[in-house]
Amino acid sequence: MTKLGVNIDHVATLREARKTNEPDPVAAAVIAELAGCQGITVHLRSDRRHIQDRDVELLRETVKTRLNLEMAATEEMIRFAREVKPDTATLVPELPGEITTQGGLDCVRNFDAICAAAQELEAAGVAVSLFVDPERSQIEAAQRIGVSIVEINTAEYADASLYLTLKTEVATAKALERLKTAAIEAGLAGIRVHAGHGLTYRNVRAVSQIPEIEELNIGHNIISRAVLVGLDAAVREMIALLKEE
Ligand code: PXP
Repeated sequence: MTKLGVNIDHVATLREARKTNEPDPVAAAVIAELAGCQGITVHLRSDRRHIQDRDVELLRETVKTRLNLEMAATEEMIRFAREVKPDTATLVPELPGEITTQGGLDCVRNFDAICAAAQELEAAGVAVSLFVDPERSQIEAAQRIGVSIVEINTAEYADASLYLTLKTEVATAKALERLKTAAIEAGLAGIRVHAGHGLTYRNVRAVSQIPEIEELNIGHNIISRAVLVGLDAAVREMIALLKEE
C-alpha cells in the first residue's frame, strides 16, 4: 500500500486568514494520524503565510508518525530545521508571491548549494528529500548529491487531469508516463521515491499504482474535502483509495 503523508498547511491558511488561533494545525495532525495516515507534512515558508515556527515546534513534540518539513534551502530554514529536527526535510524551490510551489528544484544548476544544504541537514540527523520534476537529469543530480529520497513533482500530471476531455486524456497519459519513467530511474539509482502536488481523489489512483512510489504527500484536496465531510472522513477516504489494488 502507498503511504499517505497529509499536508496540513491549509488548516493554517484558514487560521491566518483571521490571524487568530483556530483552526490549529496541531489538532489537525492528531486527527489525520488517528485516521491512519503515515506522516504529517508542513511547509514553513519564508513569508510565514500559513505554517508558523510554533506549529512546527509543537508538531515535533506531538506527531507520532513522521514529520516532514518542506522548506527552501536558505540559511534561515536550515538553521531552524537543524534545531527542530523533523524526520525529513524536503527541499523545495520557493518564489516570492507564488500561490504554491512552482516546479521542482533545479538540482543541476544549483548542484553545489543543494549539496551543501543536504549535507548540513544530514549532519544534524535529518533525512533529506529533494522535490524534483520527473526528468532524468534531475534524478541523476539527486543521485550525485547522495540524498536517500526524492519527491517527484506530480503537478504536470495533476494539471492535465483536472478536466477530462480527449485532449487532456492524451496529456494526462503522457505526464503519467513521465512519472513512471522517473520513478523507475530513481528506484534503479537506489533512491526512495515519494511523489506529490495537486493530487486529488480523482487522479490519485494511477499514481499510487506506480510500484516504486512509496509515499504520496497530499494537502489541498484532502483539506478541501475535510471542510465538507470532516478531516477524519477525508483522510480515511484517501487511505481507502491508496489501499485498492
Ligand atoms: N509536495 C510538495 C513538495 C509541495 O510543495 C506541496 C504543496 O505544499 C505538496 C506536496 C502538496 O500539494 P497539494 O497541496 O497540491 O496536495
